[in-house]
Amino acid sequence: DWTPDSFIETTIAALREKLGDDKVVLGLSGGVDSSVAAVLLHHAIGKNLHCIFVDNGLLRKDEYEQVLDSYKHMGLNIKGIDAKQRFYDALTGLKDPEKKRKAIGRVFIEVFDDAAHEVQDVKWLGQGTIYPDVIESVSVKGPSATIKSHHNVGGLPDFMKLKVVEPLNTLFKDEVRRVGKALNIDPNILGRHPFPGPGLAIRILGDVTPEKVAILQEADAIYINNLRSYGVYDKVWQAGAIFLPVQSVGVMGDERTYENVICLRAVESLDGMTADWCHLPYDLLAKISNEIINNVKGINRVVYDISSKPPATIEWE
Ligand code: XMP
Repeated sequence: DWTPDSFIETTIAALREKLGDDKVVLGLSGGVDSSVAAVLLHHAIGKNLHCIFVDNGLLRKDEYEQVLDSYKHMGLNIKGIDAKQRFYDALTGLKDPEKKRKAIGRVFIEVFDDAAHEVQDVKWLGQGTIYPDVIESVSVKGPSATIKSHHNVGGLPDFMKLKVVEPLNTLFKDEVRRVGKALNIDPNILGRHPFPGPGLAIRILGDVTPEKVAILQEADAIYINNLRSYGVYDKVWQAGAIFLPVQSVGVMGDERTYENVICLRAVESLDGMTADWCHLPYDLLAKISNEIINNVKGINRVVYDISSKPPATIEWE
């Protein structure tokens, strides 16, 4: 019978056997899969697992610091890399969603490759690939998919020539969560909503600037914190705020304002392939809207997305 404990025990033994004294490099994203994969590998080979966590400047507010901190508390051998500026530079002036994704994927590979080179004699690349990724569900567009799409472009970066170790590649998402729970991983990491690899860059329509990122981070934090305090965060499959580069007229005291719009998105889904918009309570939406408009400079209007997938997608880009 499959149980999280039996899986953990046999997987750790198999990893020790396979890896011996070899070193493994693994990119952490803050998501469930890479975190669980890292903790399993850490139990198996300890300090020979070298984790890399990249700040691409497109994460949620304070997420880089908080996630890095909880990884350190778990005892992981982890290096955080502040690469914000490299990502912002690469995104300057780009408006097309696919060009933005490609630029982010390219910079991520460069930054990760540099970091991997600093690990002497590394033999393996660890990945949090789960079974649905293996069977190539189109719903999966994670970092590994981003990396795969770059296989054809130019020469392979060195880390992609490493042997690959994927301890979760037989598991479904709910099994990964159960394994993570049995490994005592922070419930905040295990219960997270999915978050796209390109991050807030695809929730800022059109060109991305550090100023827009800062505005969106504030609005998104107000939104997510309210979902948590109202007790609905865990009932929502995925939620996030979107920055619309549309200006509209408002009034603040005696002044006329002409500022941007924040759109709130929340969906129920099983796998991201189809999704229904969540019927969030009006009083909650009202509170979030007031808090955003009163506290986030540059925003004078908040709207709620009531489109389901299909035909709309979950993300706006
Ligand atoms: P859509 O917008 O296609 O999103 O309905 C379905 C799921 O995929 C996520 N998503 C991405 N994840 N890189 C990722 O890692 C991407 O480029 C990307 N685009 C969409 C989205 O957040 C949702 O969970």
